[in-house]
Amino acid sequence: MGGMDAKKSGWFVNRAIRFFLGAIYQAGQMLKWDSKYELGNDRIDAEHRIFLSLIVDFHDAAEQDTPKDKLLRIFKEICKYAEFHFLSEENIMIDHRYPEQEHHINSHAKLLAEANNKLQSGSISADDAFNFLFNWFAFHTSSEDKKLVGYIESGTDK
Ligand SMILES: [Fe+2]
Repeated sequence: MGGMDAKKSGWFVNRAIRFFLGAIYQAGQMLKWDSKYELGNDRIDAEHRIFLSLIVDFHDAAEQDTPKDKLLRIFKEICKYAEFHFLSEENIMIDHRYPEQEHHINSHAKLLAEANNKLQSGSISADDAFNFLFNWFAFHTSSEDKKLVGYIESGTDK
């Protein structure tokens, strides 16, 4: 009976380790700049690269058990950078008379408000902060920003 349990728990531990290693591998892959993040607008792509590298800084700092106040400083740095980057994108939208600018600008405002709430609360875990930042980068970039660059490239505004 005991032998069965040991076997079972060995199997479980094995699976857990493999799952854990797989997750680290996947996170490592996701955190590398990839052609799928490249939208085709030089300025927006250059800023997205910096945005991702800041998220990598946060991730690495969190992995190294960096003190919480330093993690919060990096989180704040990312929020400040995002604010700058959003202004860049919004100016591009205005220049190109992007028809969906109001919706896109609203989603920027929502993301910044959510980030500021997290900052203000001061009690977010490193995991929560990282998931929030990475989802923000992956989803906003691949949906809204992709649409914007597609519109600019279509030349509809000319
Ligand atoms: Fe955007």
